[in-house]
Amino acid sequence: MTLKTSLTGIKPSGVPHLGNYLGAIRPALRLTETHRSIYFIADYHALTTERDPKRLQQQVYDIAAAWLACGLDPTKTLIYRQSDVIEVFELAWIFACVVATGQLERGHAYKDALEQGSPNAGIFNYPLLMAADIILYDADVVPVGRDQLQHLELARDIAVRVNHLYGEGTVVVPEALITEAPIVPGTDGRKMSKSYDNTIPLFAPAKQLRKEVMKFKSDSTPLEDAKEPEGALVFELYKTLASAEQAQALATKLRAGGYGWGHAKEDLFQAIDAEIAPYRARYETLRADEVAIDAILHRGADQARGVARRTMTRVRKAIGITR
Ligand code: TRP
Repeated sequence: MTLKTSLTGIKPSGVPHLGNYLGAIRPALRLTETHRSIYFIADYHALTTERDPKRLQQQVYDIAAAWLACGLDPTKTLIYRQSDVIEVFELAWIFACVVATGQLERGHAYKDALEQGSPNAGIFNYPLLMAADIILYDADVVPVGRDQLQHLELARDIAVRVNHLYGEGTVVVPEALITEAPIVPGTDGRKMSKSYDNTIPLFAPAKQLRKEVMKFKSDSTPLEDAKEPEGALVFELYKTLASAEQAQALATKLRAGGYGWGHAKEDLFQAIDAEIAPYRARYETLRADEVAIDAILHRGADQARGVARRTMTRVRKAIGITR
């Protein structure tokens, strides 16, 4: 059986937090065990909102170092910068010529941006570039969160339309793979997100990590009283990190009384630290060597370009641009 190809774009937005790790990075890396996997850093998508050149550049290194530190193996998984394979813009143009503007006007992200003011045309065309990202590499499945589902549906529509106009098999029709990642709560109980300022930085030194974990909201049940673990923030997060047996053990202690939320937070800290400590060390080393990161990304781009060019030869011929 041939492996399916899975592809995901990662928008560079700084050093990831624990929510990014548990919700996106960890599940994505697990997928590499069962799929031929492609990950790229969507720097040109970031350009729709990032105006600081230095920051854009730094964030690409931050995110690349983070994924590599967390276990992405560039000898098995393709990783590259979106901007290094310029064929994607040619395909995006071709898609612009088969899609109705009305379809882009219905985009949630575009409509939200429109409410905020006057969005740039990059935001309007964002889904076209995304469809090109996916279809250029013959991706079968695209693991995404629910917020990206509409973009995926558009990519599918475009692929189906291209095949209808120019012949079946011109492009591969991608499928969304909704990742069943847990919604990771932040210290205040809302979804962990930079915009809520409730995040736990992924690579913080152990001391700072403990301090941040102690900030998690918990009720003020006295130490000696029995506590219900299910639904409690600290316990829910602990479950995503610890083994089933460990979670069971903590639940038993909390229900028995005499075990405080402070103790449970210490257990949570230990569980996070046990998983993250090796990545933290690797991250520091990698992030300090931008030349090495560039080498990895360029090697990935060389390989990616090979696939991209094959697709473009096929597509150009199909649409009548070359013979
Ligand atoms: N739009 C995605 C996000 O916001 C990033 C992205 C760009 C992407 N191109 C992609 C995801 C292609 C999947 C496939 O996070």
